[in-house]
Amino acid sequence: MCGIVGYVGPRDAVPLLVDGLKRLEYRGYDSAGLAVMEKGRLEIRKCVGRLAALEEKLAREPLSGAMGIGHTRWATHGEPSEINSHPHTDSTGRLAVVHNGIIENFEKLRAELEKKGHRFRSETDTEVIPHLIEQELREGAADLAEAIRRALGKARGAYALGILSLDDPETMYAARLGSPLIVGVGDGEQFIASDVPAILNQTRRVIYLEDGELAILRAGGVQVMRLDGTPVEPEVREVRFQPEAAERAGFETFMRKEIHEQPRVLRALLARHVNDSDEVNLADIGWSDEDWRPVRRIVIVSCGTAYYAGLYGRLIIEALTGTPVEVELGSEFRYRDAKLAPDILVVSVSQSGETADTLASIRLARRAGCRVLSICNTQGSSLARESDGLFYTEAGPEIGVASTKAYTAQLMAFALIAIYLGRLQGELTAEQEAGLVRDLRAVPDAIHYVLSREDEIRTVAGKHCDGPSALYLGRKFNYPTALEGALKNKEISYQHAEGYAAGEMKHGPIALINEYLPVVCICTRTRDEVYEKMISNMKEVEARHGRIIAVANDGDETVARLAGDMLVVPAVRDEFSPMVNVVALQLLAYFAAQARGTDIDKPRNLAKSVTVE
Ligand code: F6R
Repeated sequence: MCGIVGYVGPRDAVPLLVDGLKRLEYRGYDSAGLAVMEKGRLEIRKCVGRLAALEEKLAREPLSGAMGIGHTRWATHGEPSEINSHPHTDSTGRLAVVHNGIIENFEKLRAELEKKGHRFRSETDTEVIPHLIEQELREGAADLAEAIRRALGKARGAYALGILSLDDPETMYAARLGSPLIVGVGDGEQFIASDVPAILNQTRRVIYLEDGELAILRAGGVQVMRLDGTPVEPEVREVRFQPEAAERAGFETFMRKEIHEQPRVLRALLARHVNDSDEVNLADIGWSDEDWRPVRRIVIVSCGTAYYAGLYGRLIIEALTGTPVEVELGSEFRYRDAKLAPDILVVSVSQSGETADTLASIRLARRAGCRVLSICNTQGSSLARESDGLFYTEAGPEIGVASTKAYTAQLMAFALIAIYLGRLQGELTAEQEAGLVRDLRAVPDAIHYVLSREDEIRTVAGKHCDGPSALYLGRKFNYPTALEGALKNKEISYQHAEGYAAGEMKHGPIALINEYLPVVCICTRTRDEVYEKMISNMKEVEARHGRIIAVANDGDETVARLAGDMLVVPAVRDEFSPMVNVVALQLLAYFAAQARGTDIDKPRNLAKSVTVE
């Protein structure tokens, strides 16, 4: 979703803002703009389209100044247009604001402000903010900080804001409620950003603003207060990942790089959570065995790809422990009257840790007295801070909009949690635990092998990427893999794709099958009882002349006879095969997208972090 960057210090803000916005491009946007304090004037440049268009505009109408705010907008209220893009100003043009989030009561506020003589130019919810601040100044606020605090007291919804005003020309203001915002602390200069990668090449020292906080930034330092004026002592934290982690490292896209990082990410998780005696250790979460014991039921909440990780979580936890599990979409869970009790452990799953529906779900769960454990990839995110326990997936920044390494890291997290819990509950013996761990250790190498066969996957993708649609079928542990494979395909190649539990095929989707329809069948084999069922499904597809693309193990002649094409993956234990099989499907989608010429890292209409409902 929208990106924010701000700078105050001795350097020219413009190149820093443009660079920061480029680093946030992955969040998805359709227009961009800057406001810069230049020689006693507040100058704004904005335009529709990519940052390249803004750069062209800046070349035609140059700007420079020691303080500025920049924004990439992902349209919610009002179409992508120059007028609707940020920064927005008050009636005098002396105050500029960039905003992420949604001001839910903007219509009411706008009507009230219009009655007081304010004239609005855009269709956005954001524009009420500068006008509200202007109004508070007119009505006697002592200074800009007070005007901002009073104005924000009237706004309902979610915001991360960067604010500049000619009335206080050496100070930048930043506030947050519900949308992420960080302060980057430099040496004689300060930054704000909606996400760490925007400023990581400038400073690694950050303050994660809390909801309801206002930061006042001058070149020499940062002051933080609550919206009621109470001062806050901000905690400055060192970001753990290196700036290079947010670079492409020679790959043509972030997504390809992130697909290739998966063996390393999973090895690192194993190294962190498994000891030399093949025992799982979750001490990092900070819970004792006694904290886990009262858990009678688990409810997993998440969205999108992370929801599919949750579906896998249910399968693996129910397979290895005695605990019943439910999986819920955050957007549904928060509005349904879920019957929650303190013996329910709510597990949220999120790469960004900022997904609005997932956050709302855990808040609801905590109000009902449940403990919340989050499987999350973003240090300092709202989810990480608001949970009782954190399983940090440590996959490093995921910049490609379509999730890859965060997904397999989430699956690994669930596998480790399931083994740990199974052992704790006496459902697994030490020997069984060690056996599972040994099989888990085979996963990174197996993924490596899939990556080494990229060229074959590219060829298969090239044969089938033209059609309008594709069907993905899987069962049991690989039913979520089918859903995730289909999602990857539609997200980045824009080919419609449906993921289905293979057993459901006869209940509807079989009507789609003809000689043009690619049907991706996940049919890996070790000792899984659903293998034979998948073979039957493939025969049904074959009988209707569907084009079978099988994800199968090397040397599987039965599958090879049925399939038109094979994506060969190594055999690993069934329970862990989704981590391997999905990589073949990530690559299948990737090469289909490449053949179709889409913008793989920034697919149309998508945002990396869905911070609004
Ligand atoms: C798909 C994808 C999205 C996210 C979803 C949740 O590739 O990335 O479906 O999985 O928006 O995001 P997080 O994990 O940040 O909560």
